[in-house]
Amino acid sequence: MNLATRYLGLQLAHPIVAAASPLTATLDGMRRLEDAGAAAVVMASLYEEQIRAEDTAYALYTEQGSNSQAEAASYFPELVDYNNGVSGHLETLQRASAALDIPVIASLNGTTAEGWVGYARELAQAGAAAIELNVYSVPVDPAVSGAEVERQTVDIVRQVAATVQIPVAIKLAPYFSSMPHLAAELVQAGAAGLVLFNRYYAPDIDLATLRVTRSLPLSTAAELPLSLVWIALLSRRVACSLAASRGVETDVEVIKYLLVGADVVTTASALLRHGPEHLSTMRAGLERWLGENGFDSVSAIRGLKDATHVEHVDALLRAQYVAALTDYLPGKLVS
Ligand SMILES: Cc1cc2nc3c(=O)[nH]c(=O)nc-3n(C[C@H](O)[C@H](O)[C@H](O)COP(=O)(O)O)c2cc1C
Repeated sequence: MNLATRYLGLQLAHPIVAAASPLTATLDGMRRLEDAGAAAVVMASLYEEQIRAEDTAYALYTEQGSNSQAEAASYFPELVDYNNGVSGHLETLQRASAALDIPVIASLNGTTAEGWVGYARELAQAGAAAIELNVYSVPVDPAVSGAEVERQTVDIVRQVAATVQIPVAIKLAPYFSSMPHLAAELVQAGAAGLVLFNRYYAPDIDLATLRVTRSLPLSTAAELPLSLVWIALLSRRVACSLAASRGVETDVEVIKYLLVGADVVTTASALLRHGPEHLSTMRAGLERWLGENGFDSVSAIRGLKDATHVEHVDALLRAQYVAALTDYLPGKLVS
């Protein structure tokens, strides 16, 4: 069975990649993921904002843990070698890139033009196989249009891609109005891959204390459709790699994402919930399913159900909504 895939020009043994999370924040964590069979790891992001505030990912995670449900707190490993700012982050990346046989992809969340370019250069120098740009800012200024937000996003990619020699991927939020247009612009600006989609801290209000809290519940497979649709719609239509992100609980979601055209499938919540070893279960399930269904490789199923297969377009788009709604008309409800 040939599970090999290519992502960002990197040759990978199979398509399951460990997404950025506390599990990929330390050398030990990344080593554990390699031992569990990850095809590549995306190191937890370097956050310019946190560096500037002399804050750390560790503080963010522990705050998150105490503010949200007890379930989440138990997922956070001890980030012993992570609480070291930029130099600690770069050292961890350097050591992981040298020690691991699988590609270590760095992740960067910048806030300023100099930050994006400067830290990207440092991550590349530290040995990253590629860089994933974790772009997220909430446009709260009414004077800033959607077109302006897109222009800023494209500019970040253009500047970073012009600075580093390694492939640059961009991990997007799902909140853009014309994803295909933006995708084409990003590719033109130098993006070698799109990661669809990121997931963010969600604010809430504690009615007992009337305090605004933040939480990040782990995902479930119910989150799959959003990324599934957009991978399906962009597959073979953009000249870059596509990485699926969100809602991968088991091999079932891995297979679905490959069927709609993902080159790799990334997973964070499931590994936090079940441990890195869950990755080998997913891989075994993928291999089994391919064999049982008469396929001899991952390439044989990639994109089989994407939007370029016209018979499936309606099912991916709104038209089908109407049909689905009729299932819920009075008298047709199934209890
Ligand atoms: C606790 C936690 C920490 C995360 N940290 C990062 C991060 O540092 N950088 C990043 O780009 N994404 C981060 N993510 C997002 C994941 O990489 C992933 O894109 C998202 O959780 C969706 O995948 P999933 O449904 O498999 O969890 C984090 C997610 C979780 C749950």
